[in-house]
Amino acid sequence: GMQLGKLLGQTGMTTLDVGFVNTAACQSEITFINGDEGILRHRGYPIAQLAEKASFLEVSYILIYGEDPTPAQLQSFTESIMGETTLPEVISPVLRAFPAETHPMPVLSAGVSLFGTLGDDISIKDDKQIDLATARLLGRTPTLAAAIHRVRGGKDPIAPDASLGYVGNLLRMTFGEDYEITDELVRALDMLLVLHADHEQNCSTSTVRMVGSSNAPLYASIVGGINALYGPLHGGANQAVLEMLERIHSNEGGDATKYMDKVKNKEDGAKLMGFGHRVYKSYDPRAVIAKEFATDVLSKANDPLLEIAQELEEKALADDYFVERKLYPNVDFYTGLIYRAMGFPTEMFTVLFALGRMPGWIAHWREQHSDPATKINRPRQVYVGATEKNFVPVSER
Ligand code: ACO
Repeated sequence: GMQLGKLLGQTGMTTLDVGFVNTAACQSEITFINGDEGILRHRGYPIAQLAEKASFLEVSYILIYGEDPTPAQLQSFTESIMGETTLPEVISPVLRAFPAETHPMPVLSAGVSLFGTLGDDISIKDDKQIDLATARLLGRTPTLAAAIHRVRGGKDPIAPDASLGYVGNLLRMTFGEDYEITDELVRALDMLLVLHADHEQNCSTSTVRMVGSSNAPLYASIVGGINALYGPLHGGANQAVLEMLERIHSNEGGDATKYMDKVKNKEDGAKLMGFGHRVYKSYDPRAVIAKEFATDVLSKANDPLLEIAQELEEKALADDYFVERKLYPNVDFYTGLIYRAMGFPTEMFTVLFALGRMPGWIAHWREQHSDPATKINRPRQVYVGATEKNFVPVSER
């Protein structure tokens, strides 16, 4: 205590907790996780029940408002979102200004940043404004995501059609008229969005709260979350998993052994992408659901990448390296395979994660601003640099 206090140039107790492994930054009523037992609940409801019985917009309502909507409340929430799916005109030329090979995540970030420049969401205290910004973020971001995909492929964006519903509309705007939207597809994508809807103080959500803690507006805070999600250690992992499976398939003839050895020897920092989690030291309950689904849908198609994924998992769960470190598949391990089967290109996977995580980010920002205990987030550091030195002007050096 004393020693650290001296280093910090302050008195009193400070903890050094690199990566915030043991530090809680807030109290929250939204999501409960027990990492040792693999439990995830939103507002008390187990994720498996929500994935089976609730739609993504219903889960969004529960996360954001903290209570189950009546049918009338859910309908009016849905209408408010589906009434906000059209993109403001300033967006399209901006999307076209990015080189075609730009990753969709920075473009998504730029687009949502633009949403925040159009006059709404001025005050963090006005509930009506916040509800409007909530509906706009949930309504417009899928349209933005689909437009990014279309423009990258040299195609024109497709206008939203609210009659198709939240997920059906997303599929239509992404893939166009020729794509057959079945009930199974809609149900599957809806469920994948539910699996991503919130996960307490993960890197992106903590970022949303970090930015929000300065009283920055909702849109600006969400943009922070999108950028944090981009990294391969977080939301970018779903893309990295697929690329890993494709590499094993094409370079090693589908033999997972070589790659596993590389991971265990930590060669070139190789990791088994989609494995491990800061909080789960057992099977990620979201991965249980995604795996079941992937196996169901893809085994019929004899997808070689599914077989590689299953083999990697089997090998890992029987291997001391993974057992000792309690490394299990996380949500990203199987989701990419399902997105791929739906026709989404690999670069869009993390964008889909962002669409799923949107209600969680919004719920946390709103909770933060309704909590009287909220303060600006301002961690300390332990200074380990030079002690006091005498400055010599450059001419005398
Ligand atoms: N493959 C191989 N080894 C791993 C993996 C992995 N996927 N994950 C962790 N390890 C090893 C580490 O090298 C470390 O080994 P050591 O004790 O010999 O040094 C040990 O397990 C502990 O790992 P940490 O990196 O300390 O764990 P941390 O909690 O900091 O990181 C993280 C968690 C980032 C998720 C990590 O497991 C990882 O990089 N996984 C792969 C990327 C991934 O799938 N990210 C998605 C996370 S879930 C999500 O965002 C939805």
